[in-house]
Amino acid sequence: EEEEIERIYKGYRDKMATLPKYRGWSTLHLCQYQGFWFQPKIGLEGVMWVQQRFKPRPTDVYLATNPKSGTTWLKAIVFSIMNRKRYNNFTTDHPLLKFSPHEVVPFMELDLFRTTPIADPEILPSPRILATHIAYNMLPESIQNSSCPIVYICRNPKDVFVSFWQFSVKMRPKDLPELSSEEAFDLFCHGVTPCGPFWDQALGYWKASVEFPNRVLFLKYEDMKTEPLLCTKRIAEFLGQPFSLQEEENGIVQEIVKLCSFENMSNLEVNRNGKSRVRAEVKNDVFFRQGKVGDWKNHLTDEMIERLDQITKHKFDGTGLIV
Ligand code: A3P
Repeated sequence: EEEEIERIYKGYRDKMATLPKYRGWSTLHLCQYQGFWFQPKIGLEGVMWVQQRFKPRPTDVYLATNPKSGTTWLKAIVFSIMNRKRYNNFTTDHPLLKFSPHEVVPFMELDLFRTTPIADPEILPSPRILATHIAYNMLPESIQNSSCPIVYICRNPKDVFVSFWQFSVKMRPKDLPELSSEEAFDLFCHGVTPCGPFWDQALGYWKASVEFPNRVLFLKYEDMKTEPLLCTKRIAEFLGQPFSLQEEENGIVQEIVKLCSFENMSNLEVNRNGKSRVRAEVKNDVFFRQGKVGDWKNHLTDEMIERLDQITKHKFDGTGLIV
């Protein structure tokens, strides 16, 4: 078994060695694979594993995002919705008060592929909630052809860039040469981001949501901020678990929204000072910065704004997707 696993991973590494490389954000390089960019070790190996070996279950629920688009938030909301019968105390005794959302909802390509006991996909109880940054067209056919719901969250690329840049400053190992904000901006515009290009990744899920509206729900971070109650109800309905009148009257939706709010989550001890058990090198607080819409106004020059807007317009023109 051990030897077999080593043989498989050697195959992945051999494949990676042949791929185009470019400058990375919090790794030295990103590798281009099937039109998207991935971090070689934590990332691409997992993507290959998902494509070849991941076994979906009919009860699975998938959460898909571009990094820095609200993954942490979506994980918290969907976990709370799906487990609300079991965990119905949202203020004093809920897993999200003790564990990071990333711990209760693992990433398929990051947390499952190396068999560690807490993240072994085969021992996770059903229904599994699994997150991914993998582009829609790169998902294994077994997932694309399944009837499992996929919830996608999209965010304005200007805020995604700012969030990504701040994140990678914290995550970039000190022994790598610094990545300036200008260089990072250039990389982002050229689509060279982990799991990017941003636009292509978003478009894949957008098109799937238009084609299969019952299977792919396309949400926007900005809408979740302005209408959190409505969005939470919509997610619950989409997942086939609508809130009952009784639950609504009891204020369950409000409780979930409050539990998962940036203000609440970012102030919890576990998210301020905790570390993930799944990926111990990552501190939980890196996933909580400001949680606002429009912080790009404080960071981007007019020239940068125009350049990003132009790319977005060009890429999304005629698709119906407006961000
Ligand atoms: P900012 O850097 O703009 O603050 P991801 O979870 O996909 O990595 O995205 C991280 C971004 O989502 C960060 O954005 C982070 O602050 C924000 N975020 C994290 N938790 C959130 C929450 N509960 N509500 C709203 N935004 C949240």
